[in-house]
Amino acid sequence: MKRRILIDCDPGIDDALAILMALAAPELDVVGVTTVGGNVGVDATTRNALALATLAGRRVPVARGADTALVVDKKRAESVHGADGLGGVPLPAPAYAAEEAPAWEFIRDRAAEFRGELEIVAIGPLTNVALALSAYPETRERIKAIHLMGGSIGFGNATPAAEFNIVADPHAAAAVFQSGVPITMFGLDVTNRANLSAEGLEELRAVGGRALSPCCSMLDHYLAAYRSFGRDALALHDPLVVAWLIDPSLVETRPYRVDVETDGRYTSGKTIVDVHGVSKRPPNAEVGVELDAERFIALLTRLLRSYDEPGAAGPLGTD
Ligand code: RIB
Ligand code: CA
Repeated sequence: MKRRILIDCDPGIDDALAILMALAAPELDVVGVTTVGGNVGVDATTRNALALATLAGRRVPVARGADTALVVDKKRAESVHGADGLGGVPLPAPAYAAEEAPAWEFIRDRAAEFRGELEIVAIGPLTNVALALSAYPETRERIKAIHLMGGSIGFGNATPAAEFNIVADPHAAAAVFQSGVPITMFGLDVTNRANLSAEGLEELRAVGGRALSPCCSMLDHYLAAYRSFGRDALALHDPLVVAWLIDPSLVETRPYRVDVETDGRYTSGKTIVDVHGVSKRPPNAEVGVELDAERFIALLTRLLRSYDEPGAAGPLGTD
């Protein structure tokens, strides 16, 4: 049976590839997309999610969520993803509108509809997920699992200590890790190694196609940002979560206790991963520790190329 997933995201260039991969995967039933402010504001992330579904030829319900965090001031990553969130790469105009219901109600309703089956793929700040779990406590036991890109065992990327998705809303992240819902955490320890070099990007561009071509244009912008930070390869953070859903052998995970710092002057947003069990507290997450980067890129390529296979649906509004 297909895995029922709901993607909560802040597209965002790496989110864009993750969404297109998920919509292409026969193993996954994407029952909805919810959007959150993160890389860029929620107006842009919602428009981008609708445009990506239109490009994919899939009328997936999209529900708009929170623009800012529960408590902390707004954080954005336009320096990495561009002002529009997709590196200025034009996509088809959205062929349909977002849902009336806000993201947290949409999450509540899908968890009820697919009780015990729904898996949330959270690849942005966790504000919407935290709001759904706190406003509708019955949702906690209805969600099968939350698979999130966020945090790290080691260093951060938004601050020396903290990864962007977590530090953008540390209170929401703390609530999610304390919720009791089974969690799989894909932190920078593995996602920074899910990377693509300039040569690898040229190999993707040579494959081409109606999904891969705009994706490679977005990745040009993304690689330029990484180079400005002194990095010569880009990290495909969010796509790794989707790839693992399809092929769990791609990432080795270990059970650890994970807590989120919300008050530290230098450490707010840090995921505290108890790798040696010194807290004596039971694990609350499976945390990614190793990956097969080569097979990850091969799976990404196969999925994004599938949009050009015979019989694949065209963009919405062109049939
Ligand atoms: O730190 C990487 C994460 O922050 C990714 O989800 C990226 O899209 C940004 O949201
Ligand atoms: Ca993201």
